Amino acid sequence: MQNTKRAKIFSVVNQKGGVGKTTTSINLATAFAAIKKKVLIIDIDPQGNASTGFGIEQSQRQKTIYEVLIGECDIKEAIIPTKIPNLKIITSTVDLSACEIELIDIEHREYLLRRSLKKIIHDFDCILIDCPPSLGILTVNSLAASDSVLIPMQCEFFSLEGLSHLLTTLSLVKENLNHHLTIGGIILTMHDRRNKLTEQVEVDVRSFLKDKVFKHIIPRNVRLSEAPSHGLPGIIYDPKCLGSVAYIRLAKEILQKVKIGE
Ligand SMILES: Nc1ncnc2c1ncn2[C@@H]1O[C@H](COP(=O)(O)OP(=O)(O)O)[C@@H](O)[C@H]1O
Ligand SMILES: [Mg+2]
Repeated sequence: MQNTKRAKIFSVVNQKGGVGKTTTSINLATAFAAIKKKVLIIDIDPQGNASTGFGIEQSQRQKTIYEVLIGECDIKEAIIPTKIPNLKIITSTVDLSACEIELIDIEHREYLLRRSLKKIIHDFDCILIDCPPSLGILTVNSLAASDSVLIPMQCEFFSLEGLSHLLTTLSLVKENLNHHLTIGGIILTMHDRRNKLTEQVEVDVRSFLKDKVFKHIIPRNVRLSEAPSHGLPGIIYDPKCLGSVAYIRLAKEILQKVKIGE
């Protein structure tokens, strides 16, 4: 019998660096895998932080998303297991940074990832793509291949400006490359209740984007930032810390909004 189940594909996007994209991708992917969803995380950032965050050494990154995008290997060959049951990964290395230039002359270069993902779309319940901090060809490939966008955002002074730029880009992609793209939601990260500016930015973002902002916010929590150096997701490294509890609650909230693997 043919498997008609189709993976939900999420891009975790924000053109600003250091806002919690990788931490969010790693912990949400692990939370979904923990409830027996079959999950694939794709590291499409040349910095390779998601790969490192799962403890995957450079020597284990033989076939990466770079080889997939330039057509040197089939996507199935690039998928490797993580230490977490039900959770697989396509890694990246710094080689990926060459894509911006190497893909310039390729026709339909925005759809390279989408075409590859078609081959594995029935093998997973959920695919999370951890994007680089730019809106270049790698992020565009991710957006063109996705159903939904998750936007981690730090509540800081310039965050709203960055967010409106990102929303404009998303509507352009939706109009020109992927009519199905929807905004899954904004995730407020590294939240500090004691900081008045944080509170004000949160109020502004919620009044601007209403129910597009997830109810559960991620607090600033040192255990989450320690976890990658142990090669583990925060929610495995210290499941009881406030940051992990917040990610588990957020994962449940996302599952209520978006049906995954059903
Ligand atoms: N909630 C948090 N509390 C404390 N530190 C965090 C939190 N989320 C992320 N960090 C740390 O902040 C830095 C940037 O986060 P990261 O997820 O790598 O952002 P991005 O992928 O957007 O560049 C990393 O060192 C990470 O460990
Ligand atoms: Mg990152």
